[in-house]
Amino acid sequence: MADDKTSAKLILNGEEYDLPIQSPTLGPDVIDIRKLYGQAGVFTYDPGFTSTASCDSTITFIDGEKGELLHRGYPIEQLAEKSHYLEVCYLLLYGELPSAAQLEDFEDRVTKHTMLHEQLHFLFRGFRRDAPPMAIMVGVVGALSAFYHDSTDVNDPWQREVASVRMIAKMPTIAAMAYKYTIGQPFIYPRNELDYASNFLRMCFAVPSEDYEVNPILSRAMDRIFTLHADHEQNASTSTVRLASSSGANPFACIAAGIACLWGPAHGGANQACLEMLREIGTVDRIPEYIARAKDKNDPFRLMGFGHRVYKNFDPRATVMKQSADEVLDLMGIDDNPTLQVAKELERQALDDPYFAEKKLFPNVDFYSGIILEAMGFPTSMFTAIFAVSRTVGWISQWKEMIADPQLKIGRPRQLYVGASLRDYVDIENR
Ligand code: SDX
Repeated sequence: MADDKTSAKLILNGEEYDLPIQSPTLGPDVIDIRKLYGQAGVFTYDPGFTSTASCDSTITFIDGEKGELLHRGYPIEQLAEKSHYLEVCYLLLYGELPSAAQLEDFEDRVTKHTMLHEQLHFLFRGFRRDAPPMAIMVGVVGALSAFYHDSTDVNDPWQREVASVRMIAKMPTIAAMAYKYTIGQPFIYPRNELDYASNFLRMCFAVPSEDYEVNPILSRAMDRIFTLHADHEQNASTSTVRLASSSGANPFACIAAGIACLWGPAHGGANQACLEMLREIGTVDRIPEYIARAKDKNDPFRLMGFGHRVYKNFDPRATVMKQSADEVLDLMGIDDNPTLQVAKELERQALDDPYFAEKKLFPNVDFYSGIILEAMGFPTSMFTAIFAVSRTVGWISQWKEMIADPQLKIGRPRQLYVGASLRDYVDIENR
């Protein structure tokens, strides 16, 4: 990927150590510390990995200062405008934009894997009807390894390919079934003549008792939401998938681990938490109270949908997502929706507030995606499940890249131990 250019010198306890520096195609150099503990007997310390590169990768590049996001070198703004989700899936998986024939073959392979093993329908029945869709998805995706034994050997390239296509194809079906189950409606089977986003919307909103026509503006907005959430470098859930996969666990179990991590409100759960926050604010006149709470060091409250670990000026996905939000709101004619009115006024006040400017806090992708999904009629409980559908291709692409790496080793971080020193056991009568 990158070869040594220079080295960094570490002087420790009177000894001098040369640490190789590797230079990337784009972004900061890295100091290679793989031999540090063996040479100097010390660890580095970086909880949260804010200054740590965990791997080489060729898939996605993010520049937080410039607000730049590239997938295999292509800017997200161009992909969102000119491409569509399954083409972006092909790009993430195989590294290049497909020819027309390659795209047709890939879309056909995905289409032919959208149905779920019929026996899995019974697994849904084990959940309470009020189960959060994310709980169902973690369970059902983990259970796929009990049904698709012929694609769990991670050392077989053919099985890795089949597992990749199966995951991308089946996630919308699983998410739609989780939604239908929680509202007591029958499952709707995928239709092969529909595109990916239209198929998902139909599986969520159609009922057997009448025909369902997908609105092209909504399916375009849905496809754009899928495209904008597809991959994002080594974020928390992707790092979870990589760490789980480093032990050789099967891909379905590793994706289930990624779904579990994405669920958190600091990560993929933010779109749901954002809408719930907007509902709690309720009316525009209460926004200053919540902005004050967000600034209060003694109040754990944070503005959901604002801020980002990497982006420190703006989230390029949010810029595109905001355009889609305006299109969907115009279509649905719901600019009188109080929640959405609070969202627009909160955005205006936060962006005008010096605190958020100096902390570099701005609306992220989750702020606007929640608004669109709410306008489309999804319950907030489905927001993160939809994020998981989209991010599956990112998880799978990063998993394939890692598994194919001949340098692959099991991930095993160390620690700064600050617990008790050696001491002897004390019998209970002497405590
Ligand atoms: C995603 O990593 C990815 O790529 C994730 C993602 C992806 O595609 O995979 O982009 C998806 O997870 C987007 C982020 C969604 N999360 C939220 O919207 C939840 C709200 N945001 C925060 O929890 C927070 O901004 C994080 C977790 C997103 C980022 O936090 P950091 O980088 O760890 O920053 P920090 O917590 O150290 O905060 C820096 C300062 C702090 O103040 P000080 O201690 O310096 O005084 O900013 C403040 C924080 O208190 N701050 C906020 C805030 N976020 C940070 N204050 C109010 N509201 C917020 N949202």
